[in-house]
Amino acid sequence: AFKPLIFSGVQPTGNLHLGNYLGAIRKFVALQETMDCIYCVVDLHSLTAQLVHEDLKDQTRQITAAFLAAGIDPDKHIVFNQSRVMQHAELAWIFNCVARIGWMNRMTQFKDKAGKDRENASLGLLAYPSLMAADILVYRATHVPVGDDQKQHLELTRDIAQKFNNDFSHRIAELGVGVEIQMGDETVNGFFPLTEPVIGGPAARIMSLRDGSKKMSKSDPSDLSRINLTDDADTISKKIKKAKTDPEALPSEIAGLASRPEAENLVGIYAGLADTSKEAVLKEYGGQQFSVFKPALADLAVEKMAPIAGEMRRLMADPGHIDGVLRNGGERAGVLAEANMKTVRDIIGL
Ligand code: ADP
Ligand code: NA
Repeated sequence: AFKPLIFSGVQPTGNLHLGNYLGAIRKFVALQETMDCIYCVVDLHSLTAQLVHEDLKDQTRQITAAFLAAGIDPDKHIVFNQSRVMQHAELAWIFNCVARIGWMNRMTQFKDKAGKDRENASLGLLAYPSLMAADILVYRATHVPVGDDQKQHLELTRDIAQKFNNDFSHRIAELGVGVEIQMGDETVNGFFPLTEPVIGGPAARIMSLRDGSKKMSKSDPSDLSRINLTDDADTISKKIKKAKTDPEALPSEIAGLASRPEAENLVGIYAGLADTSKEAVLKEYGGQQFSVFKPALADLAVEKMAPIAGEMRRLMADPGHIDGVLRNGGERAGVLAEANMKTVRDIIGL
């Protein structure tokens, strides 16, 4: 079997928000206790959203500071930025030749981001999932903690791994570099694992505070729609107070949240921050009005997030230290990536 290994990435585009924190970064921190982890600031991916960045290096440092402030240990695990390890881009090119255009065209994130004028979207935006597959598979990572919105990209990563394993099965056998993969009642030999997402919990998909049908996102023009990781206590309280809700009290059972997306979202945020379940939150707050629940949620959010914001500010005051962490992580990641790429080149015959 493949050695268990965690990989995940976050783009250096704008402020991190509560959705990124609960859906991704908190899971990164929890997983490092039991697994080997590689956490990456995916700066090459961010070029698909914005090619010309005034402050790309600084945004990369911000995300790194958030990782460290949240509790990721860069000595025990690997923290680096993607562009330091060019094997990501090399493998992405090979995967561009493995994957099919039709697979990319079906990605909902591409359709959302490209909008109506699809012919005019960058080729990079279309190929984004191919680079993501390379990020993961260049380390032969077995598990990827992500928010619910990344499920489809992870399925595509498995499709690419499977097609590569299948297309090159003879070479993989000849070179003796395959690992047994159980697929139903069949066992195949593959070079790349079929990577599993680590999704779930009450906060896998945090919605906008202003509209329960949209996910909380960096790109939402309304600042009231999201809580940024760097918001101060007053701002956090104000945004929660202004969050859209309905006039009903909270139910005491989960079923009572059906067709109340804004209420369900706030309960999910509370559960995520308190590291508990929505059921447990409703046990405590069922029957209460939002005039009671919102201040409790605001206090909890401030308690959990303000220390991270403070630590991020402290770390950002020493950019040289952050760059050192990224340099060291990049060197360690590069060794692992190159060992796998050597084999990939052998398999392909490059
Ligand atoms: P964004 O989607 O905000 O542009 P990224 O693409 O860099 O940010 O995503 C970083 C991580 O945060 C990914 O694992 C993604 O699934 C997760 N994530 C983003 N938005 C949310 C959300 N609203 N709820 C839960 N997780 C989210
Ligand atoms: Na995303």
